[in-house]
Amino acid sequence: MNWDIIGVMSSKLLTAIHLPWPTDWAELFQREAPLIVEIGFGGGEFLVDLARQRPECNVVGVEISAYSIRKGIKKIKTAGLTNAKVVQGNAQIFVQSLCRPASIRELYINFPDPWPKAEHNRRRLINDGFLHLLATRIPAGGLLEIATDHADYAEAITECLQRTPYFESRLPTTFITEDDQRPRTKYELIGLEEGRVCHYYKWRRNDAAAEDIFPAPQELPMPHIVFSTPMSLTEIGQQFEVAQFTQGNVRVKLLEMFKSLSNEQIFVETYVSEQPLTQRVGLSIRHRAPQELVIGLHDTGFPRPTPGIQLAISFLAKWAVSLHPEAKILQSNLKSTVDEMP
Ligand SMILES: C[S@@+](CC[C@H](N)C(=O)[O-])C[C@H]1O[C@@H](n2cnc3c(N)ncnc32)[C@H](O)[C@@H]1O
Repeated sequence: MNWDIIGVMSSKLLTAIHLPWPTDWAELFQREAPLIVEIGFGGGEFLVDLARQRPECNVVGVEISAYSIRKGIKKIKTAGLTNAKVVQGNAQIFVQSLCRPASIRELYINFPDPWPKAEHNRRRLINDGFLHLLATRIPAGGLLEIATDHADYAEAITECLQRTPYFESRLPTTFITEDDQRPRTKYELIGLEEGRVCHYYKWRRNDAAAEDIFPAPQELPMPHIVFSTPMSLTEIGQQFEVAQFTQGNVRVKLLEMFKSLSNEQIFVETYVSEQPLTQRVGLSIRHRAPQELVIGLHDTGFPRPTPGIQLAISFLAKWAVSLHPEAKILQSNLKSTVDEMP
């Protein structure tokens, strides 16, 4: 086991789910500087080179892969760079939740996963919606660079870029197929070696206004509902069935119910999806006084108390109250509640 890496990880690991939404990058880097982002930095070669070439900028690499994150942290440390950081998380969550409007000066996406099977195409990162999101976070004049060696993805990216009202090519053409100006990435070298044509897109944000329909997720006070019921926790647990509902862009699924050995609380494993986030959390039902129970968010796994979590608690409370005619809600601090039970 490489304890050095673990030490570096524990002191420096930044994750999109733990950082503030939005994040104050100037505070994190301890200086005001233009922000450059690389999404899916893989081995980190391009990221480190970018940070070296641009000491006047704060450079952030985003990756979903923990392996890449470890590599990135190590490379940044070895290079002695103080202007580069890596964040573990999904690109969509990173851009929407962590980056304020017009805060990204330059954004690079090198050789994104092509998802070649037609039925997986929708998983591709670059699409009209993602370009719209980027348009809200990149100010006029800011740069967007994309490279791919996948012919079919290149066609789709070309169409998206030609369609977008928010970006324009900095070149006379939509893309070029040779670019010796930039450092080569690992996947670029593999593509070239295997004889594939690389497409390089060098675009710029224009000054067309882009409506910001992508707010950072809201964080609310820790939610709770108090209700009275003559039922015991065991009786409530016995009634449990998997249940789900959708309201607006929030989808909640109550997956499983567990009772503690001390008989003092029930733990409800719950899935909450609200664009761009998904959280798998534990909701708890515990005694507050005789015949009085409180439903709250269990702190296992650093859950973020979003409006979706409030809806999940409201959903669970309505279900629990529906189990007995004498049960009723006594108190709640929720702002978002379930309109109608499914
Ligand atoms: C094909 S590799 C390219 C790596 C590197 N840019 C290169 O050119 O060598 C794609 C990388 O993007 C990362 N990735 C895929 N989807 C992502 C997402 N939604 N958000 C952040 N990173 C993502 C993967 O973990 C992987 O490291």
